[in-house]
Amino acid sequence: MDFRLNDDQQMLRDMVRQFVEKEARPTVAERDEHGIWPDALVKQMGELGLLGVAVKEENGGAGLDYISYAIVIEELSRVDASLGVIASVNNSLVCYGIEKFGTEEQKREILAPLATGRTLGAFSLSEPGAGSDAAAQKTTAVRDGDFYVINGVKNWVTNGDHADTIVLMAMTDASKGVKGITAFLIDTHQPGCRVVKVENKLGIRSAHSSQMAYDDCRVSVSQRLGEEGQGFKIAMTILNAGRIGIAAQALGIAQGAYEAALGYTKIREQFGKPIHEFQAVGFTLADMATRIKAARLLVYEAAWRKDQGLDYVKDAAMAKVFASETAMWTATKAVQLHGSNGYSKEYPVERFFRDAKITEIYEGTSEIQRLVISREITRD
Ligand code: CAA
Repeated sequence: MDFRLNDDQQMLRDMVRQFVEKEARPTVAERDEHGIWPDALVKQMGELGLLGVAVKEENGGAGLDYISYAIVIEELSRVDASLGVIASVNNSLVCYGIEKFGTEEQKREILAPLATGRTLGAFSLSEPGAGSDAAAQKTTAVRDGDFYVINGVKNWVTNGDHADTIVLMAMTDASKGVKGITAFLIDTHQPGCRVVKVENKLGIRSAHSSQMAYDDCRVSVSQRLGEEGQGFKIAMTILNAGRIGIAAQALGIAQGAYEAALGYTKIREQFGKPIHEFQAVGFTLADMATRIKAARLLVYEAAWRKDQGLDYVKDAAMAKVFASETAMWTATKAVQLHGSNGYSKEYPVERFFRDAKITEIYEGTSEIQRLVISREITRD
């Protein structure tokens, strides 16, 4: 068993690290403070191939493996968790879903521009009344000849206000329950699709999350992703992959918070010596480093299983729950090690602390991950 990254993966990590250090770090605090969407950075991510990392080259992507994808999201999030989620949504919730379930025409017309960053994608499953209970869809899609007419409200649409394409779940036959849900590829520029509001959030403030409404939005049958009634299965399959992305985002947040704490405890002196020399501080740093290493192993193994074509539902859920709780724990301790300075916006740890929280919530709360894991391990 070889735990080392190969040369290509190492070069990719260096390239993304250089990009975020030079281009994102100088503006990350201001974008967070004012909720500024990182327009230029999203374009640059597209040019660098970071928006279609694991998409096949023939479909416009970089054609890399899922471990490489996890590395990209981790490195982006180590500096800017907002960039991490913008990229994660486009890569796994949108591109992966279209590549796996789309027609050749959808791959050519819709996936290729998304994978190269010429367009941006979003994913719409959550509704005001359908969060953890994702099957409780109220949005409807009614067939009308060669079209479907979509009505309803979706919320927490990451990238929604900037997206060109949305993978949207809607009910085509309520009498069939989860088997009555169908997936669509919405072109946001078409009539009947609008942004209701952009949420004012605790963290990942530079990445926008919107509430969106569909009012008699007519989409052609060619915009259906998969078959009628396959939508819930498609959403769940997409989320399995997405959870590796969010686990990698959480890992990057934890790493960023740890590095900030490590640096601070080396220069901050109290009682005549750097505070890392106090055992209470040194042991906290040791626990941070250990938990982060364990999280990284879980994330990479889940990605590796996906690359090998092995089942990874349980592994992605384990990676997500562990990495997100590691991010929250590490960021909380990082604030504590900074003392009052950790509470100030002059230092990055308060942002990591706010950004970490959402990783325990979106793409399935920690409770849902534990539900998924417990179902998988008790199946036989
Ligand atoms: N992978 C593949 N298929 C799955 C699956 C999975 N992880 N989970 C369920 N399914 C399939 C089941 O096999 C079943 O299909 P069959 O009948 O053909 O076997 C079907 O889906 C229904 O499954 P369940 O009976 O288990 O469904 P349920 O109603 O009990 O709910 C749930 C399952 C796990 C609770 C699910 O609703 C869930 O994951 N909820 C969390 C939703 C979520 O993650 N939302 C995130 C929103 S997106 C977001 O956050 C985006 C963002 O902006 C960042």
